[in-house]
Amino acid sequence: RNYRSRTECRGDIQRLNPSFLTIYESLIPPNEEKEKQKQLMALLDKHVKKEWPEARLFLYGSCANSFGFRKSDIDVCLAIGDADIDKAEILLKLADILKSDHLENVQALTRARVPIVKLMDPTTGISCDICVNNLLAVINTKLLRDYSKIDVRLRQLAFIIKHWAKSRGVNETYQGTLSSYAYVLMCIHFLQMRSPPILPCLQEMETTYKINVDNVECSYFDQVDKLQGFGSRNNETIAQLVWGFFNYWAHSHDYANDVISIRSGSLVSKRAKDWTRRIGNDRHLICIEDPFEVSHDLGRVVDKRSIRVLREEFERAAEIMQFDPNPCVKLFEPY
Ligand code: GTP
Ligand code: MG
Repeated sequence: RNYRSRTECRGDIQRLNPSFLTIYESLIPPNEEKEKQKQLMALLDKHVKKEWPEARLFLYGSCANSFGFRKSDIDVCLAIGDADIDKAEILLKLADILKSDHLENVQALTRARVPIVKLMDPTTGISCDICVNNLLAVINTKLLRDYSKIDVRLRQLAFIIKHWAKSRGVNETYQGTLSSYAYVLMCIHFLQMRSPPILPCLQEMETTYKINVDNVECSYFDQVDKLQGFGSRNNETIAQLVWGFFNYWAHSHDYANDVISIRSGSLVSKRAKDWTRRIGNDRHLICIEDPFEVSHDLGRVVDKRSIRVLREEFERAAEIMQFDPNPCVKLFEPY
């Protein structure tokens, strides 16, 4: 196999743009879906406020970060002021309250890694997971959404990469591959590293938004409407970026030494983070720093077997992008 970095992209790369854009557009949720989500949120809010007048509900994850596909489930966070509440107790109570309405399959999963109540709303057809006090997820959802407003190429690239990962079976954290959240961070990092850059590093800019959650200081520049046109000195297209993304992860990334970090807008070293050794289940075979919980490696789920699967998939995708006459078929072929 050829591990050399390819600097020279195929000559007819621009020919591939229309197919990628068509796929991107076909995955965007229609506006009616947003309306249905609001309808369900209003219903949930009504029940929650009756029991806990001070509590608030937030959407997080792909239904709110702008990287969600059509027909996705929604993720909801119930924020209850008190930090030392018993989450299991709250969730059991919440499940009880919601069961009394016409919602279906209401279930409290109190022993899950992230304890939730699951349910399905027959009126809108939307399924939903509700967690308690997971405010960091609400804040990182806002960060991702803010990045997506700066340059449309982020949303295009992330949609294509997520679609590829889902088609190829490498978006399964329980099998040791990466979460959608991790793939979006990889895309943001990649666009920060282009030259000239397509995205800035919001956390290195003047602070216009600041909040402390679970003792983590979250701050960054969130006036992104002032950053319109930031990436306009770079005219790379979606096809070139998809090619570049796979080429980077197949042939250029230094898995032994580097951590990608959207917080700093650059690579940082594993040594500086003390992520060089396996500690417990944390192996750090591919390192993706969480922008706020900086001791948190989103690659922690990846093990000796799944790192091979991932890297082979990156290499396969890079080969297809370089040589296949019609990459959009092969790239998304079910595994
Ligand atoms: P799809 O459902 O696959 O379309 O994507 P998604 O954006 O909902 O992604 P995912 O299920 O991976 O994560 C949902 C949300 O949970 C993310 O947007 C984050 O806000 C949060 N999240 C996921 N994994 C982590 C994690 O390891 N750490 C933290 N802090 N948040 C996470
Ligand atoms: Mg989700």
